[in-house]
Amino acid sequence: MLLKTCKGFLKFWIPSGLLGIYHRWRHRPIRQILNWQIDYPQLNKVRVEDLFPGIDSVVTRVPLIALNTEDPWTLPLRELAVLAAICLYRQPRRIFEIGTYQGASTLAIALNTPEDAEVYTLDLDPSTRQTHKHGLGTGGFPQFEIGIHYRESPVRSKVHQLLGNSATYNFEPLLNSMNLVLVDADHTYEFVKKDTQTALALLAPSGIILWDDYVWTERNPACAGVTRCLNELGRSKKVYQIEGTRLALYRAEDGEN
Ligand SMILES: C[S@@+](CC[C@H](N)C(=O)[O-])C[C@H]1O[C@@H](n2cnc3c(N)ncnc32)[C@H](O)[C@@H]1O
Repeated sequence: MLLKTCKGFLKFWIPSGLLGIYHRWRHRPIRQILNWQIDYPQLNKVRVEDLFPGIDSVVTRVPLIALNTEDPWTLPLRELAVLAAICLYRQPRRIFEIGTYQGASTLAIALNTPEDAEVYTLDLDPSTRQTHKHGLGTGGFPQFEIGIHYRESPVRSKVHQLLGNSATYNFEPLLNSMNLVLVDADHTYEFVKKDTQTALALLAPSGIILWDDYVWTERNPACAGVTRCLNELGRSKKVYQIEGTRLALYRAEDGEN
Protein backbone atom coordinates (compact mmCIF):
# COMPACT_ATOMS: atom_id res chain seq x y z
CA MET A 1 0.00 0.00 0.00
CA LEU A 2 2.77 2.38 1.08
CA LEU A 3 4.77 1.38 -2.04
CA LYS A 4 1.76 2.07 -4.25
CA THR A 5 1.27 5.49 -2.73
CA CYS A 6 4.98 6.31 -3.18
CA LYS A 7 4.88 5.20 -6.84
CA GLY A 8 1.81 7.33 -7.45
CA PHE A 9 3.49 10.27 -5.75
CA LEU A 10 6.65 9.86 -7.85
CA LYS A 11 4.64 9.61 -11.06
CA PHE A 12 2.86 12.79 -10.12
CA TRP A 13 5.99 14.78 -9.34
CA ILE A 14 8.59 13.45 -11.81
CA PRO A 15 8.26 15.19 -15.19
CA SER A 16 7.16 12.78 -17.94
CA GLY A 17 10.46 13.14 -19.89
CA LEU A 18 12.41 11.90 -16.87
CA LEU A 19 9.97 9.06 -16.37
CA GLY A 20 10.53 8.02 -19.99
CA ILE A 21 14.29 7.89 -19.40
CA TYR A 22 13.74 5.89 -16.20
CA HIS A 23 11.59 3.34 -18.05
CA ARG A 24 14.18 2.99 -20.79
CA TRP A 25 16.86 2.30 -18.20
CA ARG A 26 14.71 -0.11 -16.30
CA HIS A 27 13.76 -2.29 -19.26
CA ARG A 28 17.01 -2.44 -21.24
CA PRO A 29 20.34 -4.15 -20.62
CA ILE A 30 23.27 -1.83 -19.87
CA ARG A 31 24.94 -2.34 -23.30
CA GLN A 32 21.77 -1.13 -24.96
CA ILE A 33 21.22 1.73 -22.52
CA LEU A 34 24.60 3.15 -23.49
CA ASN A 35 23.56 3.07 -27.14
CA TRP A 36 19.88 3.78 -26.82
CA GLN A 37 20.01 7.16 -28.51
CA ILE A 38 21.31 5.73 -31.76
CA ASP A 39 20.29 2.06 -31.70
CA TYR A 40 16.61 2.24 -30.91
CA PRO A 41 13.93 2.90 -33.49
CA GLN A 42 13.37 6.63 -33.88
CA LEU A 43 11.80 6.81 -37.33
CA ASN A 44 8.19 7.87 -37.70
CA LYS A 45 5.89 4.86 -37.59
CA VAL A 46 3.39 4.86 -40.41
CA ARG A 47 0.66 2.35 -41.23
CA VAL A 48 1.18 0.68 -44.58
CA GLU A 49 -2.39 1.73 -45.52
CA ASP A 50 -1.43 5.37 -44.98
CA LEU A 51 1.67 5.05 -47.14
CA PHE A 52 -0.22 3.28 -49.90
CA PRO A 53 -3.93 4.16 -49.73
CA GLY A 54 -6.11 1.18 -50.71
CA ILE A 55 -3.33 -1.39 -50.16
CA ASP A 56 -5.43 -3.14 -47.52
CA SER A 57 -7.76 -4.38 -50.26
CA VAL A 58 -5.10 -6.03 -52.46
CA VAL A 59 -5.13 -9.83 -52.52
CA THR A 60 -1.61 -11.19 -52.40
CA ARG A 61 0.08 -14.55 -52.79
CA VAL A 62 2.26 -15.15 -49.77
CA PRO A 63 4.52 -18.23 -49.51
CA LEU A 64 3.76 -20.02 -46.25
CA ILE A 65 7.41 -21.01 -45.84
CA ALA A 66 7.70 -18.82 -42.75
CA LEU A 67 4.63 -20.36 -41.07
CA ASN A 68 6.36 -23.26 -39.36
CA THR A 69 9.90 -22.08 -39.09
CA GLU A 70 11.84 -20.58 -36.24
CA ASP A 71 14.59 -19.74 -38.71
CA PRO A 72 15.70 -16.23 -37.72
CA TRP A 73 17.02 -15.46 -41.22
CA THR A 74 13.77 -15.96 -43.14
CA LEU A 75 11.44 -12.97 -43.35
CA PRO A 76 8.50 -13.64 -40.99
CA LEU A 77 4.99 -14.06 -42.37
CA ARG A 78 3.77 -10.55 -41.55
CA GLU A 79 6.78 -8.94 -43.26
CA LEU A 80 6.42 -11.31 -46.24
CA ALA A 81 2.75 -10.29 -46.50
CA VAL A 82 3.57 -6.57 -46.42
CA LEU A 83 6.36 -7.06 -48.99
CA ALA A 84 3.95 -9.00 -51.22
CA ALA A 85 1.25 -6.34 -50.85
CA ILE A 86 3.66 -3.52 -51.73
CA CYS A 87 4.75 -5.48 -54.82
CA LEU A 88 1.16 -6.01 -55.91
CA TYR A 89 0.25 -2.39 -55.23
CA ARG A 90 3.26 -0.76 -56.89
CA GLN A 91 3.85 -3.34 -59.65
CA PRO A 92 7.66 -2.90 -59.72
CA ARG A 93 9.24 -4.28 -62.90
CA ARG A 94 12.84 -4.20 -61.75
CA ILE A 95 13.68 -5.39 -58.27
CA PHE A 96 16.99 -5.87 -56.50
CA GLU A 97 17.30 -7.90 -53.32
CA ILE A 98 20.52 -7.86 -51.26
CA GLY A 99 20.46 -11.10 -49.23
CA THR A 100 18.66 -14.04 -50.89
CA TYR A 101 19.23 -16.74 -48.27
CA GLN A 102 16.81 -19.57 -49.14
CA GLY A 103 14.67 -17.28 -51.24
CA ALA A 104 11.45 -16.83 -49.23
CA SER A 105 11.39 -13.07 -49.83
CA THR A 106 12.55 -13.57 -53.44
CA LEU A 107 9.58 -15.88 -53.98
CA ALA A 108 7.14 -13.41 -52.35
CA ILE A 109 8.42 -10.73 -54.73
CA ALA A 110 8.32 -12.95 -57.82
CA LEU A 111 4.78 -14.14 -57.03
CA ASN A 112 3.37 -10.62 -56.74
CA THR A 113 5.07 -8.68 -59.54
CA PRO A 114 4.10 -8.34 -63.22
CA GLU A 115 4.89 -11.27 -65.54
CA ASP A 116 7.76 -9.43 -67.20
CA ALA A 117 9.34 -8.34 -63.89
CA GLU A 118 13.03 -9.03 -63.35
CA VAL A 119 14.11 -9.89 -59.84
CA TYR A 120 17.84 -9.64 -59.18
CA THR A 121 18.92 -11.22 -55.93
CA LEU A 122 22.43 -11.29 -54.50
CA ASP A 123 24.02 -13.56 -51.92
CA LEU A 124 27.55 -14.55 -51.03
CA ASP A 125 29.14 -17.18 -53.23
CA PRO A 126 28.89 -20.35 -51.06
CA SER A 127 32.56 -21.10 -51.78
CA THR A 128 33.53 -17.87 -49.95
CA ARG A 129 31.24 -18.32 -46.94
CA GLN A 130 33.84 -19.66 -44.54
CA THR A 131 36.49 -17.06 -45.43
CA HIS A 132 34.16 -14.07 -45.82
CA LYS A 133 34.96 -11.26 -43.35
CA HIS A 134 31.62 -10.01 -42.09
CA GLY A 135 30.63 -7.52 -39.44
CA LEU A 136 31.01 -10.00 -36.59
CA GLY A 137 34.14 -11.87 -37.64
CA THR A 138 35.02 -14.43 -40.30
CA GLY A 139 32.92 -17.29 -41.69
CA GLY A 140 30.71 -19.32 -39.38
CA PHE A 141 27.71 -19.29 -41.71
CA PRO A 142 25.21 -22.13 -41.47
CA GLN A 143 24.87 -24.60 -44.34
CA PHE A 144 22.04 -23.58 -46.66
CA GLU A 145 21.08 -23.73 -50.29
CA ILE A 146 20.70 -20.28 -51.83
CA GLY A 147 17.25 -19.69 -53.34
CA ILE A 148 15.89 -23.18 -52.69
CA HIS A 149 12.37 -21.80 -52.10
CA TYR A 150 11.92 -20.13 -55.48
CA ARG A 151 13.95 -22.69 -57.47
CA GLU A 152 11.01 -25.04 -58.12
CA SER A 153 8.37 -22.33 -58.42
CA PRO A 154 6.61 -21.43 -61.69
CA VAL A 155 7.87 -17.84 -61.30
CA ARG A 156 11.54 -18.84 -61.12
CA SER A 157 12.22 -17.50 -64.64
CA LYS A 158 11.83 -13.94 -63.30
CA VAL A 159 14.73 -14.43 -60.91
CA HIS A 160 18.38 -13.66 -61.69
CA GLN A 161 20.50 -15.20 -58.94
CA LEU A 162 23.72 -13.24 -58.46
CA LEU A 163 26.63 -14.32 -56.30
CA GLY A 164 29.06 -12.00 -54.54
CA ASN A 165 29.78 -9.77 -51.59
CA SER A 166 27.47 -6.75 -51.64
CA ALA A 167 30.32 -4.60 -50.28
CA THR A 168 32.46 -5.18 -53.38
CA TYR A 169 29.97 -6.27 -56.06
CA ASN A 170 29.94 -4.28 -59.31
CA PHE A 171 26.44 -2.74 -59.42
CA GLU A 172 27.39 -0.29 -62.19
CA PRO A 173 25.23 -1.78 -64.99
CA LEU A 174 22.12 -1.70 -62.78
CA LEU A 175 22.32 1.79 -61.30
CA ASN A 176 19.28 4.14 -61.35
CA SER A 177 17.04 1.39 -62.67
CA MET A 178 15.35 -0.43 -59.79
CA ASN A 179 11.73 0.15 -58.79
CA LEU A 180 12.18 -1.77 -55.54
CA VAL A 181 15.27 -2.67 -53.51
CA LEU A 182 15.12 -4.97 -50.49
CA VAL A 183 18.10 -4.72 -48.12
CA ASP A 184 18.41 -7.84 -45.96
CA ALA A 185 22.04 -9.05 -45.84
CA ASP A 186 24.74 -8.35 -43.21
CA HIS A 187 23.00 -6.35 -40.46
CA THR A 188 26.10 -4.81 -38.89
CA TYR A 189 26.48 -1.06 -39.26
CA GLU A 190 29.27 -0.77 -41.85
CA PHE A 191 27.65 -3.30 -44.17
CA VAL A 192 24.16 -1.83 -43.85
CA LYS A 193 25.58 1.61 -44.54
CA LYS A 194 27.28 0.36 -47.71
CA ASP A 195 24.19 -1.62 -48.79
CA THR A 196 22.03 1.45 -48.16
CA GLN A 197 24.30 3.62 -50.34
CA THR A 198 24.07 0.92 -53.00
CA ALA A 199 20.28 0.73 -52.68
CA LEU A 200 19.97 4.51 -53.12
CA ALA A 201 22.23 4.37 -56.17
CA LEU A 202 20.24 1.47 -57.67
CA LEU A 203 16.93 3.27 -57.30
CA ALA A 204 14.91 4.57 -60.26
CA PRO A 205 13.26 8.00 -59.77
CA SER A 206 10.05 6.51 -58.32
CA GLY A 207 11.62 3.53 -56.57
CA ILE A 208 11.20 2.19 -53.06
CA ILE A 209 13.73 0.75 -50.62
CA LEU A 210 12.70 -1.70 -47.89
CA TRP A 211 14.98 -2.80 -45.09
CA ASP A 212 14.28 -5.75 -42.84
CA ASP A 213 15.22 -5.77 -39.14
CA TYR A 214 14.97 -2.06 -38.42
CA VAL A 215 13.19 -3.32 -35.31
CA TRP A 216 14.94 -6.24 -33.66
CA THR A 217 14.77 -8.37 -30.55
CA GLU A 218 17.23 -9.32 -27.84
CA ARG A 219 17.97 -12.51 -29.80
CA ASN A 220 19.48 -10.54 -32.68
CA PRO A 221 21.41 -7.57 -31.25
CA ALA A 222 23.64 -7.38 -34.36
CA CYS A 223 20.61 -5.91 -36.14
CA ALA A 224 21.17 -2.71 -34.18
CA GLY A 225 23.39 -1.77 -37.14
CA VAL A 226 20.26 -1.47 -39.29
CA THR A 227 18.55 0.73 -36.71
CA ARG A 228 21.58 2.99 -36.32
CA CYS A 229 22.11 3.38 -40.04
CA LEU A 230 18.45 4.19 -40.74
CA ASN A 231 18.12 6.57 -37.81
CA GLU A 232 21.03 8.45 -39.39
CA LEU A 233 19.51 8.32 -42.87
CA GLY A 234 16.21 9.51 -41.42
CA ARG A 235 17.83 12.83 -40.54
CA SER A 236 18.19 13.73 -44.20
CA LYS A 237 15.57 11.59 -45.94
CA LYS A 238 11.97 10.63 -45.26
CA VAL A 239 12.38 7.08 -44.02
CA TYR A 240 9.54 5.39 -42.11
CA GLN A 241 9.07 2.36 -39.95
CA ILE A 242 6.09 0.42 -41.22
CA GLU A 243 3.91 0.12 -38.15
CA GLY A 244 3.43 -3.38 -36.76
CA THR A 245 6.43 -4.72 -38.68
CA ARG A 246 10.19 -4.63 -38.41
CA LEU A 247 10.44 -3.12 -41.90
CA ALA A 248 11.64 0.38 -42.77
CA LEU A 249 10.77 2.09 -46.02
CA TYR A 250 11.99 4.93 -48.20
CA ARG A 251 10.21 6.20 -51.32
CA ALA A 252 12.33 8.20 -53.74
CA GLU A 253 9.33 10.40 -54.47
CA ASP A 254 9.25 11.56 -50.83
CA GLY A 255 12.80 12.84 -51.10
CA GLU A 256 14.61 14.85 -48.47
CA ASN A 257 13.37 15.87 -45.06
C1 LIG B 1 18.67 -12.54 -43.27
S1 LIG B 1 19.25 -13.50 -44.62
C2 LIG B 1 18.18 -13.00 -45.94
C3 LIG B 1 16.79 -13.59 -45.80
C4 LIG B 1 15.95 -13.49 -47.01
N1 LIG B 1 15.73 -12.12 -47.42
C5 LIG B 1 14.64 -14.21 -46.74
O1 LIG B 1 13.67 -13.55 -46.34
O2 LIG B 1 14.59 -15.42 -46.87
C6 LIG B 1 20.75 -12.69 -45.00
C7 LIG B 1 21.47 -13.24 -46.21
O3 LIG B 1 22.44 -12.28 -46.60
C8 LIG B 1 23.60 -12.96 -47.01
N2 LIG B 1 24.72 -12.04 -46.85
C9 LIG B 1 25.35 -11.69 -45.70
N3 LIG B 1 26.34 -10.83 -45.95
C10 LIG B 1 26.34 -10.62 -47.29
C11 LIG B 1 27.13 -9.83 -48.15
N4 LIG B 1 28.13 -9.08 -47.69
N5 LIG B 1 26.84 -9.85 -49.47
C12 LIG B 1 25.83 -10.60 -49.96
N6 LIG B 1 25.05 -11.37 -49.18
C13 LIG B 1 25.30 -11.38 -47.86
C14 LIG B 1 23.67 -14.18 -46.12
O4 LIG B 1 24.44 -15.19 -46.75
C15 LIG B 1 22.19 -14.54 -45.95
O5 LIG B 1 21.81 -15.48 -46.90
